Amino acid sequence: MAFLAQIYRSRWWRYLQKKRPGLLLVLIFAVFLIYFNFLDPKRQNRDVTDDNYQPVQSELVRLRSQIAFLKTKLASEGQGIPDLNDLSQPVIYAITPTYARPVQKAELTRLCHTFLLVPNFHWIVVEDATEPSNLVTNFLQRCGVVYTQLHAVTPPNMKLKPTDPNWKHPRGVLQRNEALAWIRTNVPASREGVVYFADDDNTYSLELFQDIRSTKTVSVFPVALVGGVLLEKPEVSPEGRVMGFNALWEPKREYPIDMAGFAVNLHLIMSKPQAKFSFEVKRGYQESDFIGHLISGREELEAKADLCTKVLVWHTRTETVKTTEEERRKSKGLPPTNMGFEI
Ligand code: UGA
Ligand code: MN
Repeated sequence: MAFLAQIYRSRWWRYLQKKRPGLLLVLIFAVFLIYFNFLDPKRQNRDVTDDNYQPVQSELVRLRSQIAFLKTKLASEGQGIPDLNDLSQPVIYAITPTYARPVQKAELTRLCHTFLLVPNFHWIVVEDATEPSNLVTNFLQRCGVVYTQLHAVTPPNMKLKPTDPNWKHPRGVLQRNEALAWIRTNVPASREGVVYFADDDNTYSLELFQDIRSTKTVSVFPVALVGGVLLEKPEVSPEGRVMGFNALWEPKREYPIDMAGFAVNLHLIMSKPQAKFSFEVKRGYQESDFIGHLISGREELEAKADLCTKVLVWHTRTETVKTTEEERRKSKGLPPTNMGFEI
């Protein structure tokens, strides 16, 4: 301040005031410009956070992909899969039924690459087969995600034929039960965790797993591209209570949601061993019936995904591959185009 007073009293300041008022104005403007651009403490603060925030974010992204890269590298070099799960936070047990078809390895690859980026994750893959297949066995050994490989075959009378409408039989019933039985006998009852049914053809955001990790009972959240609509979602009050659902298909169900739209606390799975899937259940009621075994009413549901305002999972379905040319080759006695290749 004393410095400013000195300038004010100085002879050249008076000279400027009298003879060059224009130059004086320019000078004052320049001082303001310098102050607000470089010296203003508020602005400095904002610059600091902006500058620091960027590197921290990109560092996390870099480290996360580095971890994923290392997990795959160790696995593909036959070094085994390092179990980096940290039991101080809940482990997500994702149950995936899967069956042999031309797109199976592509679907599993997509899932593997998402799950590699999720910390504290255990993938339970259940093949719809009488025995484990070489394709899935080799695939899981090289994927890098901590996993358990199981199998359970769907009886022929319950298996969907290529020409059947897909509502004819429920899918994944015995496979999900096999995984639940494995969890109930192999996971220590004291373990903090969450169970999620992750079908092999859906698309999962990484945020979903961060969100459902804190599930205390049964959590619910929106699912896109399902039930004949763009978005199926729970209706949530501003206080976070689940008031209802927007489902248009079978809205009479107590819990009208898709398999991808809920997650269950591990202790709840352990304490309700009767909670299973069944072929006896009314068509389309698998999810609702299962949740009904776990809780006694909608008021026990927890709303996730920012009170059900975000879409973190998509019920994508893969088009059935047409192999007409392959069939033609076969009828001519020619070998299949993938002879010697695993696809
Ligand atoms: C919807 C739901 O999203 C599923 O969770 C539910 O199982 C299914 O309806 C049903 O009605 O049962 P949708 O896309 O029609 O899904 O079912 P798929 O994705 O074809 O099958 C669900 C899971 O079961 C998948 O992970 C799939 O790989 C597996 N699956 C399917 C088998 O293990 N065996 C089969 O023969 C068919
Ligand atoms: Mn599906």
